[in-house]
Amino acid sequence: MIGSVKGTRDLLPPETRVWNRVESVAREVFALYGYDEIRTPVLESTELFVRSVGEATDIVHKEMYTFTDRGDRSVTLRPENTAGVARAYVEHSLAQAGRPWKLFYIGPQFRYERPQKGRYREFRQIGAEVLGPADAATDAEVLVMLFDFLGRLGFTGLSVSLNSVGTEEERPGFIQALRAWFSSKENLLDEDDRRRLDQNPLRILDSKNPKLAEWLADPSLPRMVDHLSKESSEHHATLLSLLDASGIPYRLEPRLVRGLDYYTRTVFEVTAAGLGAQNALLGGGRYDKLVSDLGGPKTAGIGFAIGEDRLVDVLSGEFRAQAAAAVRGVTLVPLDRSDLGDALALAGELRRAGVAVDLVTASKGPGPGLKVAERTGAAFALLLGEKERAAGTVVLKVLETRSQEELPRSSVVEALRARL
Ligand code: HAM
Repeated sequence: MIGSVKGTRDLLPPETRVWNRVESVAREVFALYGYDEIRTPVLESTELFVRSVGEATDIVHKEMYTFTDRGDRSVTLRPENTAGVARAYVEHSLAQAGRPWKLFYIGPQFRYERPQKGRYREFRQIGAEVLGPADAATDAEVLVMLFDFLGRLGFTGLSVSLNSVGTEEERPGFIQALRAWFSSKENLLDEDDRRRLDQNPLRILDSKNPKLAEWLADPSLPRMVDHLSKESSEHHATLLSLLDASGIPYRLEPRLVRGLDYYTRTVFEVTAAGLGAQNALLGGGRYDKLVSDLGGPKTAGIGFAIGEDRLVDVLSGEFRAQAAAAVRGVTLVPLDRSDLGDALALAGELRRAGVAVDLVTASKGPGPGLKVAERTGAAFALLLGEKERAAGTVVLKVLETRSQEELPRSSVVEALRARL
């Protein structure tokens, strides 16, 4: 047997119904906030992620599916979608439209991580990006939309962890303070931590090294918020006051840096009970230099991505049960091959009237046909045979009660429409 590749998985019915429901709620909410869908390729130039996500990040350093294609180009299965959106924005000169772009995407991403519950090598994200506006009100509205979406899925009691990582110009002071602070703790650092401290010290705040955990919680650890410029501080303060006014629950998290290099100012994450402490439900933030770093005009940006696999994992049982419920429909059982033509015609009439029909084309009599109807969870079965055809009737069986009645063929569509 050939199995699926490690870290990837099949989504089967009825689970796919739950995914589809989540995605249709997402599309509804995005539309209500003026977002349009963007679909970017799964395959991108490797250089795109090196330049945007950052060489020193775990994602680029050790998690990418990178290979050389037959034309000798280095390509990568996208580990995230923000870089692709920014690339498309530059490539198609979207800035020329002179308006903000509000874009969403739903699709697979790939990271070579150690698979475990909630962590896959192929996973899906539902994400949104706003390109153009740089003001804190945009940050606030993005979070308002996010909580609107989560609320419609039945989540209550979630709060967002929030920090500001400042701008490139503001970071050197903070980095210096961090390096000085860690210099007395060299013996606690593992190889990865040392590389981080050397290449991008902010990343050390993300370290999963258990020896560091206690130190990372130390109150004397330098905080980025203490190194912000006046503008960045104001941005942060305005965001907080708008979140207060909108009733969005947040927690300030001075150590939150996120695992991607493109962020400026606002960064945020939402964790949910049941996912494990290291597994965020979603993450996002502002990236005001990403577009220009990729060769585009100076354009601010902010967005988030939700891990859809994790989201579906922690949905309430009620939402899940409702979404997974089968469409109530009819199984149509022609009793003999000679009834197939009539059955196809009746199925057509029913479907035009909006009734879901599962036609059992290979039925050998009523018994096996009814079994199929029961196993697929249909509400009713319709039996069509020579005798009924001669009498101009159809037999309707209510599967739950096993009762049956004979209806005139001419009234069956109306009768079923009324009952479903
Ligand atoms: P990220 O934090 O790397 O951010 O990923 C966002 C979410 O994707 C995570 O919170 C998690 O739920 C999910 N995720 C990540 N890796 C895995 C995995 N191996 N298995 C399952 N789920 C996973 C980004 O990707 C940014 N592009 C978000 C963003 C958009 N920032 C601004 N705009």
